[in-house]
Amino acid sequence: MAESMKGLKRSHRCAETVNAPVGSTVTVMGWVQKRRNLGSLIFADLRDRSGILQIVFDENDIGPEGFEKAEKIRSEFVIAVEGRLEKRGGAVNENLATGELEVRATSLRILSESETPPFPIEEHIQTKDELRLKYRFLDLRRPNLQRNLMLRSLVATEVRAFLAEEGFLEIETPILIKSTPEGARDYLVPSRIHTGNFYALPQSPQLYKQLLMCSGYDRYFQIAKCFRDEDLRADRQPEFTQIDMELSFVDIDDVIDVNERLLARIFKKAIGVDVPLPIPRMTWQEAMDRFGSDKPDIRFGMELKDVSDVVKDCGFSVFKNALENGGSVRGINADGQGHMPRKKIDALVEFAKGYGAKGLAYLAINEDGTYKSSFAKFMTEEELKALVERMEGKPGDLLFFAADKNKVVWDVLGNLRLEIARNLGLLKKNEYKFLWVTEFPLLEWSEDQGRYVAMHHPFTMPMEEDLDKLDTDPGAVRAKAYDIVLNGTEIGGGSVRIHQDDIQSKMFEILGFTPERAEDQFGFLLRAFRYGVPPHAGLAYGLDRLIMLMAEEDSIREVIAFPKVKDASCLMTGAPGIVEEKQLEELCLKVAEKEQKKEE
Ligand code: AMO
Ligand code: AMP
Repeated sequence: MAESMKGLKRSHRCAETVNAPVGSTVTVMGWVQKRRNLGSLIFADLRDRSGILQIVFDENDIGPEGFEKAEKIRSEFVIAVEGRLEKRGGAVNENLATGELEVRATSLRILSESETPPFPIEEHIQTKDELRLKYRFLDLRRPNLQRNLMLRSLVATEVRAFLAEEGFLEIETPILIKSTPEGARDYLVPSRIHTGNFYALPQSPQLYKQLLMCSGYDRYFQIAKCFRDEDLRADRQPEFTQIDMELSFVDIDDVIDVNERLLARIFKKAIGVDVPLPIPRMTWQEAMDRFGSDKPDIRFGMELKDVSDVVKDCGFSVFKNALENGGSVRGINADGQGHMPRKKIDALVEFAKGYGAKGLAYLAINEDGTYKSSFAKFMTEEELKALVERMEGKPGDLLFFAADKNKVVWDVLGNLRLEIARNLGLLKKNEYKFLWVTEFPLLEWSEDQGRYVAMHHPFTMPMEEDLDKLDTDPGAVRAKAYDIVLNGTEIGGGSVRIHQDDIQSKMFEILGFTPERAEDQFGFLLRAFRYGVPPHAGLAYGLDRLIMLMAEEDSIREVIAFPKVKDASCLMTGAPGIVEEKQLEELCLKVAEKEQKKEE
């Protein structure tokens, strides 16, 4: 039978007993990690979120009735123990903070019993993800997840403290908002009162934070839930959390300055890492040219080199054709990997094809200066020499080349570079390399939609020097947008906003909005812009991604208490679920036949 807390008060968490004097009486509570019965003595490891503490039940201390009760306890029972804190009689456990201590129990209450859990509650378990997520409440008892969520809480606390010191106001914005078609797919919520109408869940507080600037709140922040109906990946969830901010009367450098100090503060306080300031900056163009990515991992080199001019007249038709079709030929040098076996090279070629490469040319430079290559036979000795020279190739190196449209070449080599680094174990999770990527293109041509779409969002300010190209060459206009990248992950992004209604209207026009549709979708913003709007800029971090990297995890699922799986469902609660007919009737909704939907 479960006993109550009546008259009991916890004095310490398990690991906090290291601060209590030996010989003092403590009252500790938690879960039984494991129990060993040695006949006249029973040992139990007691666990709470601080750690583990050894409890000793001895009939001489606790009496026959208490000892009998202690014989009943099993793994995951919740117990309360009062006892004397002592130096361990037996061997010290070096792995525990409390490894030199034990509590000799003088009283025991069993607060709750437990069935045998479906998997052991331990740091390293081999359990399938599905089972872990179905029993997430047990999974969350594991020390690694507890550490991650405590880290997350600490970071949120530090963010609030820092931003408050810097004069930011924490303001909440609505969750039930108007759907806007730009960006990712919205989650919709039907309205009962306005039959046939829908709210959307916010993809970010973007428009509201800009309106708050119009209203004079000059420095806003929020730790905001965001919702995007996108395909899930290791660093994407349908609902996630942003540290969102907006500032008035600022330009790019002001936003970068406050955010660099914010990052330095949280990395120091939460994980003891010094972030050297200023964080380096790189334009989008440079990032693409050197790393083939707008979120370069700069923990290692292996940079891309453009060899187009070297191979433009060579005999290898793959290279020549790519150039004739307006593309480029670029390479990377996998330093010292010339001995890579053919099988591994073939695997990299297949990997490259996964990113749209039609092929991947390679050239290994043997120690004697000869080559082992997929294309050397198509080129003269001089052409090869010039190519190797451009790649700074030396005996023992392995060169890879991709020839295609720039976009494909960047994507292929950018990802190949990461794959090789992963295979070679070059990516150390406890090494933190930050980078600002700036001067993104304002617009991106969408083949699907046959129009330009905003690369960041439609409220991002073009660079002043490119304003005249808005009409003549919109694709070449750069934006006052910036991303903060950590170890190859985009942890945040933002921009200076358009605060001039003529530029904003122009932007909507380029994005294919008629004035009527712009008015219908964003009328409230355009109206606000007619009543005095300060220049403003902002940024939002993906909090989950940030914590994932700080916790050295591979997936944001490990830093979210109740995450969803790939098909956006929750294995614990079974959400999303079917609702009652009556609920649908109230909303005047009918579910169309599934078959019909499948056909579509
Ligand atoms: P953006 O869309 O770049 O900008 O989002 C900001 C940051 O949020 C994180 N993020 C995600 N994290 C987990 N799961 C997702 N599905 C997901 N999508 C995005 C990323 C990203 O860098 N309103 C603008 C910000 C601004 O301009 O101020 C915005 O939302 O780490
Ligand atoms: P092929 O003449 O098609 O046998 O190709 C010769 C070599 O060029 C092979 O190693 C191919 O993988 C490589 N190759 C083919 N297409 C490309 C490309 N677009 N970029 C780089 N290498 C390629």
